[in-house]
Amino acid sequence: MAETLEAPAEEEKPKILVLAQREITDQNFAQVLLEKIGGFRVALARSADDVIHRLQLGPDLILIDPHIEGNFMRAMELLRRMPKLNHVGIAVLSGDQTGVKKCVGKGFNGYILKPYTPELLLSSVWKILDSVPPLPKDGGPANLDIEIDKIEGLPTLPTVYAQVEELCKNPDVDADELAKVIETDPSITMKMLKLSNSAFFGFNREIKSIRDAVALLGNVTVQNAVLSISIFEALKDQDQSAGLDKKEFWKHSASVGSIVRFITNKMKIDREESFTSGILHDIGKVILDGLFAEFYAGVIKTVKEKKQHILQAEELALGLTHNKLGQELAESWGLPPRLIEAISYHHNPKRAELDSELVSLVHIADAIARNLDSGSGGDPYVPCIQKFALEQLAISAEDIIEWEEDILKALDKDMAFLSAIA
Ligand SMILES: [Fe+2]
Ligand SMILES: [Fe+2]
Repeated sequence: MAETLEAPAEEEKPKILVLAQREITDQNFAQVLLEKIGGFRVALARSADDVIHRLQLGPDLILIDPHIEGNFMRAMELLRRMPKLNHVGIAVLSGDQTGVKKCVGKGFNGYILKPYTPELLLSSVWKILDSVPPLPKDGGPANLDIEIDKIEGLPTLPTVYAQVEELCKNPDVDADELAKVIETDPSITMKMLKLSNSAFFGFNREIKSIRDAVALLGNVTVQNAVLSISIFEALKDQDQSAGLDKKEFWKHSASVGSIVRFITNKMKIDREESFTSGILHDIGKVILDGLFAEFYAGVIKTVKEKKQHILQAEELALGLTHNKLGQELAESWGLPPRLIEAISYHHNPKRAELDSELVSLVHIADAIARNLDSGSGGDPYVPCIQKFALEQLAISAEDIIEWEEDILKALDKDMAFLSAIA
């Protein structure tokens, strides 16, 4: 018979609260009440970024004013996605009723409206603490994390991409029909023409229409080019942040695309999506940086100062990695499953199930691009190429060294891609 073990009585430790208020007088008043009368341990935070840093203390509850400095809703979204921290209670402490209303249904455990009496503050805090689900015994995440589609401000792809994707499901799609759909988006049309006439494709005659481009390039290449252009269209309004250097980032992504294309040509592998896989592989970084700019800047800083792997720094600071967010976003955009897999596992190609060849190509190209210093993915380290990836493609480290000069030439030519579409 299974023995029932009684859990040892929990030590009476004071609960830890993070108190983030905009006004210093409000902050001091609440702190005194919570510490002196309530017996809580209180850590103060003055900005959204500060709140994220205080999480290292393992707080039981965060009392937050929506008007604190920085992007407070973003901080909450991050918190709710962090597997080890999403059981932490979050309550709004504010005098602004409209601000409080905005937080309803966004993963908050309660609110306390100002002005309050000391009794009301303390009884509300205890009530909220009691309502927070406990940390699961297995240490796993509480079931509270926010789904990707609930994150506000995620970029959307131009509608033309979905139409092109749908049409191209039929391999015999009529070129006129495909061209007509693309031409409904003037910006994509212009970029597609510019790209078709660039050194990237290297035709020796002018391509004057989309119909012409489809006839020369073929449906699948056009579909992939439309996807890459759509990605740039979706992200074009993102400002330069203190975190990721966007110009260097896109150069890194295009370099990975170019190297994947080089290897597939060299190995005579038929891969129309080769360049696009490179453009997409680190997309999660640009999204993390765009959505959580003030937090992602901290990730980049940690990576450089503490020489941490970017995945580890992202996980620790945001509870979310660029490959995971990239994967979720690509799924929500309905991208082809092979490309989604290349995004998910480019740091760990062994995990690929659908197409380990494409994932391995991106993995290898990522390391080569870093080694050749072509752009920057936000961290200066050259990862080791996994043996598994080399085996998938039957190439050796010697092959890569031998190809270096030709890869540099290909990179030079392929950067025409960026000038045509960015
Ligand atoms: Fe990556
Ligand atoms: Fe990368």
